[in-house]
Amino acid sequence: MTPDPASVPVPAAVDWWRDAVFYQVYIRSFADGDGDGVGDLAGIRSRLRYLAELGVDALWITPFYPSPMADHGYDVADPRDVEPVFGDLAEFDALLEEAHGLGLRMTIDLVPNHSSHLREWFQEALAAPPGSPARARYVFRDGRGPGGGEPPNNWPSVFGGPAWTRVPGGQWYLHLFAAEQPDLDFTNREVLADLETTLRFWLARGVDGFRIDVAHGMAKPEGLPDMVAAEDTGLFDDHGPGDLRFDQDGVHDVHRRIRRVLEQHPGTMAVGELWVHDDDRLARYVRADELHLAFNFQLLLADWDAEELRTAVDHSLATVAGTPAPACWVLSNHDRPRHVTRYGGGASGTRRARAAVLLQLALPGVAYLYNGDELGMPDVELPDEVLQDPIWERSGHTERGRDSCRIPVPWSGTAAAYGFSTSPDTWLPMPAGWGALTAEAQAADAGSMLSLYRTALRLRATSPAFGGGAMHWLPAPDGCLAFRRPGGLVCLLNVSPAPVPMPEGHVLLASDDVCGGVLPPDAAVWLHA
Ligand code: GLC
Repeated sequence: MTPDPASVPVPAAVDWWRDAVFYQVYIRSFADGDGDGVGDLAGIRSRLRYLAELGVDALWITPFYPSPMADHGYDVADPRDVEPVFGDLAEFDALLEEAHGLGLRMTIDLVPNHSSHLREWFQEALAAPPGSPARARYVFRDGRGPGGGEPPNNWPSVFGGPAWTRVPGGQWYLHLFAAEQPDLDFTNREVLADLETTLRFWLARGVDGFRIDVAHGMAKPEGLPDMVAAEDTGLFDDHGPGDLRFDQDGVHDVHRRIRRVLEQHPGTMAVGELWVHDDDRLARYVRADELHLAFNFQLLLADWDAEELRTAVDHSLATVAGTPAPACWVLSNHDRPRHVTRYGGGASGTRRARAAVLLQLALPGVAYLYNGDELGMPDVELPDEVLQDPIWERSGHTERGRDSCRIPVPWSGTAAAYGFSTSPDTWLPMPAGWGALTAEAQAADAGSMLSLYRTALRLRATSPAFGGGAMHWLPAPDGCLAFRRPGGLVCLLNVSPAPVPMPEGHVLLASDDVCGGVLPPDAAVWLHA
């Protein structure tokens, strides 16, 4: 069970994030302010009121720094400036001020593990000889085999293909992601110091915190040994104990360093993107002097199955038990299929998504929503010729990548670009037939997904039923989950194919019609008991 936040002696304003609802803005796809078909800071600014009315507490904005966009901004050429496609520093400051004026905190993405190949540092490294200080900021090594023609080890890139690329002159450099994203070496003092400079740069502008990209990366094992493939499958362990690319002990020094900077700015926080499957290993990242929060991806990985969902919740709670951190629930993000689609798509996927958000928002701790969740956006299947994710090319066209979950958000109207942009030519195409999915159409419909989110967020923020940072499971019919929060909230989720009777209590909100005291299949209800 999570420790009760009421027992943590910190003023409320300082740990505002403990039970906050964050809204992830995938900047390219949220709102386009200048009509070039790509979302930007001005677009976010124009939709701040919508976000305040939705009832979220804070934003996380994905990278908006200068970038050649090999990985859509996660390849950062200058961590302390704004990419012209997205705006400029003045626009950023104005956005931050307006967000704060509406009571919204603003957090931004920090991408420490790698830079863009076009960052000045990497260009210097390419021009410098092996063994030079410029190369020491990255992970350059000699190759193996005759003439050093083989990569220094057998590591694969997360995006497919080898994790090494050879440069003119013969050395190889490491990139756990695309070749345009060379890994930085965090044993290099200059690299670490530069990260601190970046943190301070944005903190001085007033940001409330950071989402840390690949927070389980950054440290590499001494000698960069080969990974060992499993005997039965011949495959490498992916993000498990045998995956030497990630979750190395040295990474915690980096997190301690980040925390020390944040401690000098009370009220700021950091959440880590951590693909670490083992609960105990994951818990190490949220020790008192490291990250405030760790995304727990168990819920995002669970199928629509009562046992799987319950196990996901148990693991997430077990991870944070005994740490100062609350749990941090995620259903969707810009890297995984959206949950409407994961749960089967169509009307049934949408029904399940309605139920799932009542589960997510009833659980104790922090919730992260992904832009478009509140509209019930599904993934969109795209034709080959419009795919942009580097995974498509790097996998030799065997994996389609993540574009399907990154389609621009539909705001209004009945034809593309649905108010997302003044141009119909959006960076990823928007499908026909999305008129009913727009925020405008849904705002006018009390039964819509958007209305459900708004009501759920208002209740979560105002009802005493949500008090207390713990929960305990209640007995429930087969295929159902039921739990109670100390404030009196009872959440019942029915994943079974049959209707089930509801427990006693006053109905606060239901994802479906609950007349007659019965909860239909694929539905959830909040009761105050
Ligand atoms: C994280 C981001 C993902 C990006 C990768 C490399 O996983 O969420 O979008 O491609 O890091 O930076």
